[in-house]
Amino acid sequence: MTEVKREIFGHMPQEDGGGEVEKFVLQSDSVRVEILSLGCIIAALETRDRAKQFADIVLGFDKLEGYTRKHPFFGAVVGRVANRIAKGKFTMDGKEYQLFLNNGPNSLHGGARGFDKVLWSPQILPNGVCFYRLSPDGEEGYPGELKVWVTYTLNGSELAINYRAQTSKKTPISLTNHAYFNLAGQGSPDIYDHEISIEADSYLPVDDTKIPTGEVAAVQGTGFDLRQPVQLGKHLKQFHLDGFDHNFCLPLGQARRLVARAQHPPSGRTIEVHTTQPGLQFYTGNNLDGSLKGKGAATYPKHSAFCLETQNWPDAVNKPHFPSPLLLPGEEYNHTTWLCFGTA
Ligand SMILES: *[C@@H]1O[C@H](CO)[C@@H](O)[C@H](O)[C@H]1NC(C)=O
Ligand SMILES: *[C@@H]1O[C@H](CO)[C@@H](O)[C@H](O)[C@H]1NC(C)=O
Repeated sequence: MTEVKREIFGHMPQEDGGGEVEKFVLQSDSVRVEILSLGCIIAALETRDRAKQFADIVLGFDKLEGYTRKHPFFGAVVGRVANRIAKGKFTMDGKEYQLFLNNGPNSLHGGARGFDKVLWSPQILPNGVCFYRLSPDGEEGYPGELKVWVTYTLNGSELAINYRAQTSKKTPISLTNHAYFNLAGQGSPDIYDHEISIEADSYLPVDDTKIPTGEVAAVQGTGFDLRQPVQLGKHLKQFHLDGFDHNFCLPLGQARRLVARAQHPPSGRTIEVHTTQPGLQFYTGNNLDGSLKGKGAATYPKHSAFCLETQNWPDAVNKPHFPSPLLLPGEEYNHTTWLCFGTA
């Protein structure tokens, strides 16, 4: 049984258009999750350790102000197109589209005011909440009026996130959730004692602005081979890596499959990621620098969290040999990611 409650979380500042932000609390025997109508943000996620003690395992803020100020997409749904688009530019049917550049020379996570920064219309479900938004034609430079539904449902220890969209004109789309996890509990100083595995035979090397070079490289014999679990701290040292911020290419196909697993041996907490999406951006919080004031006065230094962002491959709109991100009128975008929490 999942209990669903709603309450008011805060009010958007006038300069951001005002409006009430609601918080939805989904609770089962083993998981409690808080989700905001701002950006469909997962603001808290409590799971149990081996001794059945709950801890909040996602980074975030106590108050709405934290989320309306600049922050690195904590817990948010990002779109229309997650990740980077080179030079914020793409050409479709002979027409060039220019997006807002918010990440050096590139466009990142939807632009200046992406899906993470807007209010969504919520509808309570028996075991979750569905958020709807109409993204106007031309929003952030993207063509077509896009109807989007993001649905969170909690079933026991499994949180499902379903993304659906319909468009009036051909447009690229790739939606994900950008939760930052630390299975020791948010506010713990690093993730070096976590064990991670990712079911990917290949990954996408990137240039110095983090745009894929176009090569689909085998992980075999490299630091990107995470097919067997590695202890993160030891692994980064061994391969002289400053951290991960890379797309892993998942086995293709629309079916649900297990794609990643993380385990924190001291607490026993585990998370398994299952998805229908073609890619997984593994990010180890390389840009966190301890300057944000998080929940319970926590600070979030470099490598104090990781993200497992299921999505299409980055810059796919400019790479014809990547899985197509284009949605056509009459079609439906429909992807689901399941986060399964447990102990080991
Ligand atoms: C909920 O989870 C149980 C197993 O834990 C599964 O048998 C059942 O089909 C799930 N229900 C839904 C609606 O996904
Ligand atoms: C979305 O796709 C799933 C299969 O992955 C399917 O079960 C579900 O019915 C689809 N949803 C809609 C609204 O078509």
